[in-house]
Amino acid sequence: MLKKFWLCLGDWLGKILLLALAVGLGGWLIGSLFYSWKFSGPVSLEEQIPVTEKADTQAIIADAIRVVEQHRDNTRVLRDAHAKAHGCLRAEVSVRGDIDSDLQHGVFSQPGHSWQAWVRLSNGNAYPQFDRVRDARGMAIKLLDVPGQKLTANPAHAAEQDFVMFNHPAFFVRDVAEYRSNFAAQAEGKKVLAFFPGWDPRHWEIRHLAIALKTLSPAPDSPVATTYNSVAPFKLGPLNIKYRVIPAPENCPAYQLPEQNRDLPNFLRNALYQQLSLDQTPACFTLQVQRQNADFYMPIEDPSVEWDEAISAFESVADIRLLAQDFDSPAQNIDCDNLSFNPWHSLPEHRPIGGINRLRKAVYEAVSAYRLDRNGALRAVY
Ligand code: HEM
Repeated sequence: MLKKFWLCLGDWLGKILLLALAVGLGGWLIGSLFYSWKFSGPVSLEEQIPVTEKADTQAIIADAIRVVEQHRDNTRVLRDAHAKAHGCLRAEVSVRGDIDSDLQHGVFSQPGHSWQAWVRLSNGNAYPQFDRVRDARGMAIKLLDVPGQKLTANPAHAAEQDFVMFNHPAFFVRDVAEYRSNFAAQAEGKKVLAFFPGWDPRHWEIRHLAIALKTLSPAPDSPVATTYNSVAPFKLGPLNIKYRVIPAPENCPAYQLPEQNRDLPNFLRNALYQQLSLDQTPACFTLQVQRQNADFYMPIEDPSVEWDEAISAFESVADIRLLAQDFDSPAQNIDCDNLSFNPWHSLPEHRPIGGINRLRKAVYEAVSAYRLDRNGALRAVY
């Protein structure tokens, strides 16, 4: 009797497993077919600005200021995103001698030219937390003494060219309207539910939820051991491109980072300090760009779509060297907090494009001005 029961149960479990497998495979097949139909080229070479974007942007700024106030660190007001820095580092960015002539625009126009720069490395979260917590990791580069008229009217940033990236290649929303509803839901404490705005399944953003979950990844061994992506597109002269920064340890003296204690709250800062300050060993990266090929699905207005490297490969344009240095002093850390990075601190040749970048202009300026003002550090800065 008992034997018959177990056989019967086994039989049913087997069928349920098979059914689940078939449903999973079917879902995957339908999803793949749907996206290969939906995500097919050609796409526009130009920006397309929705009429609601201005109003959505104003609402997002109001929410962002509220978040900044919620996460005040004692008396200091921190960034609304990437609040925790691992360090601000002096760096050299050298245009490669072999850069393709089509890519020689803006700060890359002179092969062999070296720019002095600041690089701020960060965790993505809106308030500081232990480095071992899953999160995005950010890299912001500010080239200094860059001549030429900039897109920002602020004289404080008149000589700067910024590149602002994090270490996942896709963004978790497609446009400003979706950012508004998602951000408002997150500010109310909804995390997963932010991707399900209502009962209508046509508005469920399951693919975007998957991107958000993947973006929150385990910490690398060191901030110099991960790839940082522009995620959103930019101009490079007449071209539309995305850019990224990849580790290039082969361009620096060989170095083995001693194992770090990942239970320490700031072990990513410790890793930088160990390599650059104690062991006085520089860290190297390469800056690369990927051209848009508008015959394929490489959209400007949807940064949740990664541009396919098999269609358009990344090309190296500059070498980056984080110098051996003592960076972890209280004065330098305060200066680091008071810096403002913004993709719109830029030459027209590197103009940010697409809705998420247009949104960033207004939000970074507003949040930066607000926090610097509250921290007594505003020098006509935004
Ligand atoms: C392409 C997608 C994005 C990337 C790669 C990115 C990356 C970053 C990074 C690395 C920082 C830190 C910069 C620093 O070290 O000071 C930052 C700051 C910030 N991000 Fe983003 N971000 C993206 C999109 C957005 C969007 C859509 C918003 C909001 C609308 C936003 C809001 C902010 C704000 C408010 C700051 C702080 C600005 C300041 O106070 O100076 N970001 N972002």
